[in-house]
Amino acid sequence: MSPTTRRTVFDPTDPDVNPYRLLTGLVVPRPIAWVSTVDAEGRGNLAPHSFFTVASGRPPVVLFSSLGRKDTVRNVEATGEFVVSFSSESLLHEVNNSSAAFEHGDDEAEQLGIATEPSETVAPQRVTQSPASIECRLERIVEVGHAFVVFGLVTAITVLDEALVDGLPAIDRLRPVSRLGGNEWGRPVEAFSLERPQRPEDVL
Ligand SMILES: Cc1cc2nc3c(=O)[nH]c(=O)nc-3n(C[C@H](O)[C@H](O)[C@H](O)COP(=O)(O)O)c2cc1C
Repeated sequence: MSPTTRRTVFDPTDPDVNPYRLLTGLVVPRPIAWVSTVDAEGRGNLAPHSFFTVASGRPPVVLFSSLGRKDTVRNVEATGEFVVSFSSESLLHEVNNSSAAFEHGDDEAEQLGIATEPSETVAPQRVTQSPASIECRLERIVEVGHAFVVFGLVTAITVLDEALVDGLPAIDRLRPVSRLGGNEWGRPVEAFSLERPQRPEDVL
């Protein structure tokens, strides 16, 4: 066997192994949900979450995971609503800065001078400069160890007209940054098209 085929096996139960660092270094690139919420008193909150994906198409459901019961989760529990704004390259520093541990009740958007505007169907506002947003009502929260996996039923999707081509979001217009392992970020990707085979005969 050539040395290049050797692999290291990590046992996640080994105290010297950091499964979080390994998983976040492997599950890449991760899109970033910039999640806005309001608390019971209507005070806003904004925080990035890269543990984020589509959970279902019918009904349309997205999910993000909070590692701990942070302000975002508390607010969703209290009000049942959240909005995901999308992070474009030009918003990189605003996204990153909004992850700082602001006091409970402090609105990151207000503190950092990030403009927000009313959403269509829910109380949390979207980020004005963000090219797209997904508005959600809480579907359920599933606790997994220390994590709170928040599922949201999509109530509206907004996309800047200039980010649409033939009525659909275009990646070269959205130019999303992504989260990689450690402190690394991914630049907007270079996209290409490839038709998906429908039947086994198409590939055999
Ligand atoms: C790009 C990026 C992605 C992040 N993704 C997550 C995540 O998926 N889950 C999480 O719990 N924290 C994540 N964080 C950290 C949170 O944003 C941070 O803990 C924040 O203070 C939480 O805000 P909150 O207390 O207002 O909810 C991320 C930070 C950055 C910069």
